[in-house]
Amino acid sequence: MVTMDMPLLANILGLLALFSYIATLLPTILRIVLPSTKQTDIPRWLLKNRRLMGIIAFFFTLGHAFLYVTKRNFDFFDLKTFLIYVQGVTPFTIFTLLAITSNDWSVKKLKKKWKQLHQLTYFAMFLLTWHIWAKMSGHWTYLTPVGIVAITGIIVLFLIRLWIEHQDKQQKTNRKASKA
Ligand code: HEM
Repeated sequence: MVTMDMPLLANILGLLALFSYIATLLPTILRIVLPSTKQTDIPRWLLKNRRLMGIIAFFFTLGHAFLYVTKRNFDFFDLKTFLIYVQGVTPFTIFTLLAITSNDWSVKKLKKKWKQLHQLTYFAMFLLTWHIWAKMSGHWTYLTPVGIVAITGIIVLFLIRLWIEHQDKQQKTNRKASKA
């Protein structure tokens, strides 16, 4: 019989961090994969609040990690501990960098590098899937299936977005070639 644990505050904060992170990915994905959502204004609202969502994701992660680090007395300078939690610490580091540079000054100052830095957000998606699987295997809480469905769903939508963008690019090249 499958038993599930009751989620603790740290688990709830982890899931809220995941949802707010996913909200930062949705505007571009919805515009390309589900253009009909434009009529609902949801993509426009998400785009307008993307920076805020990113900073909210950072603070939820800070609370989540803080509760585990203090409760389990982690020493991230110990290589073994770092490797056990690398799939949590790395997205956390990415979120910190993105939160710090989520302002107009950084956009102007970093120019092209700002866009490159913010591409790291897509790497976090795959790390977080590994994080949830690795940390929750054998003792799911009631939140675990929700987290797994959410992160898998956004990865599938992201891959469809990449595929559509690739198709568009190819069509453009073919059109150019046929005109030449
Ligand atoms: C320093 C960084 C991090 C540490 C130390 C950490 C620690 C943990 C630990 C120990 C668990 C297992 C909890 C349990 O056994 O019940 C866990 C689960 C989880 N973490 Fe993290 N985490 C980190 C970063 C993140 C980030 C960046 C996110 C999301 C944006 C996140 C989202 C989650 C989620 C959704 C779960 C599963 C909760 C559940 O299914 O109940 N974590 N984390």
